[in-house]
Amino acid sequence: MNSAHNIKSIQSLFKEELKSIYPQREIENISYLLLEHLLNYSKIEIQLNKNEKIEQNIFDQISKALNELKQSVPIQYIIGETEFYDLKFKVNKQTLIPRQETEELVHAIILENQVEAPKILDIGTGSGCIPIVLAHNINNARVSTVDVSTGAIEKAKENAILNDVEIDFYHRDFLKWENYRWDNDFDIIVSNPPYVKESEKELMQDNVLAHEPHSALFVTDNDPLIFYRRIAEFAINHLKKGGKLYFEINEALGQEMVELQKSMGFTFVQLRKDLNGRDRMTSAEW
Ligand SMILES: C[S@@+](CC[C@H](N)C(=O)[O-])C[C@H]1O[C@@H](n2cnc3c(N)ncnc32)[C@H](O)[C@@H]1O
Repeated sequence: MNSAHNIKSIQSLFKEELKSIYPQREIENISYLLLEHLLNYSKIEIQLNKNEKIEQNIFDQISKALNELKQSVPIQYIIGETEFYDLKFKVNKQTLIPRQETEELVHAIILENQVEAPKILDIGTGSGCIPIVLAHNINNARVSTVDVSTGAIEKAKENAILNDVEIDFYHRDFLKWENYRWDNDFDIIVSNPPYVKESEKELMQDNVLAHEPHSALFVTDNDPLIFYRRIAEFAINHLKKGGKLYFEINEALGQEMVELQKSMGFTFVQLRKDLNGRDRMTSAEW
């Protein structure tokens, strides 16, 4: 059975219903993502078939999604997937939605490490976006990743299968890394750990605050660099000589991050900007 709607009227409905919550441009993106997912069309196919009638069962799913969007559930959680560095990733509420600045971090790592079979450790797996993209783009990379969240690890395992790469997954609380056995010959250690200060919560958008996992995001104001310090302490003991340490960072803590790594004996410590000119990454060598 057909509903009274076609693609064009659905897009108008989205604009009308969501205009008080999202900017116009974002509403357009959201409607494309949802329609691509539900109709199994590309963006071009949607544009070419604006008058196509929408089946009632699809319309029911659209209505349900619209209700969730009004409660600021991110579209990626509604459709259960997202794209990162041209690969598809399943996401759920235990996994952070991968961000553009993280794409920039993995892009830098890929460009700077086109060597054969490097041994890589990623800390804080989330959806698996960092380890999976590195394994996909660096020849024979041997990649391990750890996360404290079993929900994240399970989703990331699915994503490794989806993207046809082999990764070693470990369920670990990295703040207690001394409690476990580790290899000590990594070429690269990378992490995008929790780094948003509790006091920065009020600056965040509702859809992040209400729906993304807080354990992936927040650190206390009295020790905001805790993950970086613990990871750098680990890296001193577990990186090869000349091995590299890459971090995504809180843009407000760039200088502190540089000083921390220099004071611990790392060399070539660089504070690096994202495409928007913000201090969002560091790299260093041991
Ligand atoms: C900012 S998210 C990054 C996720 C993913 N790497 C990405 O870039 O989208 C931080 C991740 O660290 C994990 N995490 C938080 N505390 C941890 C801990 N003590 N040990 C290991 N992982 C932890 C969270 O579960 C979360 O998946």
